[in-house]
Amino acid sequence: MRRAVSVSEALAARRSIRAFLDQPVDEDEIRDILRRAARAPSGGNLQPWAVHALSGGKLAALKALMRRRCAEAPEGEPMDYAFYPADLKPHYVKRRVRNGEILYGALGIDRSDKVARLAWIHENFQFFGAPFGVLCFVERGFGPSQWLDLGIYLQSVLLLLTEAGYGSCPQADWALFERTVAAFLGSPPDLQLVCGIAIGHADPTRAENLIHTERDDPFASYDMSA
Ligand SMILES: Cc1cc2nc3c(=O)[nH]c(=O)nc-3n(C[C@H](O)[C@H](O)[C@H](O)COP(=O)(O)O)c2cc1C
Repeated sequence: MRRAVSVSEALAARRSIRAFLDQPVDEDEIRDILRRAARAPSGGNLQPWAVHALSGGKLAALKALMRRRCAEAPEGEPMDYAFYPADLKPHYVKRRVRNGEILYGALGIDRSDKVARLAWIHENFQFFGAPFGVLCFVERGFGPSQWLDLGIYLQSVLLLLTEAGYGSCPQADWALFERTVAAFLGSPPDLQLVCGIAIGHADPTRAENLIHTERDDPFASYDMSA
C-alpha cells in the first residue's frame, strides 16, 4: 500500500485488507505503532485498551489451533453479547446487506452459499493470512464508554498502519472464540477479548482488497432515525 502523508490521506486510503503478501513486516515498527496509538483520548484517561501481539511460531500455533476449533465449532463459542441488535432498523439492514453484496460479490461467493460464507468467516481466524496479528481486550466490567475508547484507539492504530504503508483489517469476529483464545494465551480472566487486527503487506492483486465500500451522510442518518 502507498504510504499516506496526512491524516486526511490516511483516512481516505485506509480500507479493510483481507489478503496479504508472503512478505515479512517490521515487527518493531508495528509494536511502536501499537504504543503510539495510545495517544488516543479516553474518558478519564483510563486508557482501557489492552493488546497482545502475535507473530512467528506463536501466531502459526494459534492459526493451527483455530483451524481445529473452526472444524469443531463452526459457528463459534457462546458469547455474552450479540454483534448486532435483533431489531436493526431498515437503513442499517440495507447497509449491512450492501456491504455483504460488495465483499461476497468480489469473492465470487453467492449469498445463498452458506458453506462458502462460513469458510470465508473462518479465514478471520487465520488473520486472513497476515504475518502479524493483534488481539484487543478491555476489562470485563467495562461498559460503552470504555468500548468507545477502544474504538478510538483502534482507529488510531489503523491510521498509523496506513501511514506506514501496512494493510490491516479490524476483526470483531475473534470474539466468537474468546474462550479458545484466552486458554491459548493464558490471558488474565478479567480481560475480555473484543476484536483482532490482521496486519501485513496488502496483496494488491486480490479482488477482496480492491472493493470500495460505501458511506452515507451521517446527517442523513440522524434524520432517518427520527
Ligand atoms: C470494530 C470492527 C469490527 C470488524 N470486524 C470485522 C470482522 O470480524 N471481519 C471482517 O472481515 N471485517 C471486519 N470489519 C471490517 C468492516 O467490515 C469494514 O470496516 C467495513 O465493511 C467498511 O469497509 P472498509 O474498512 O474497507 O472501509 C470490522 C470493522 C470494525 C470497525
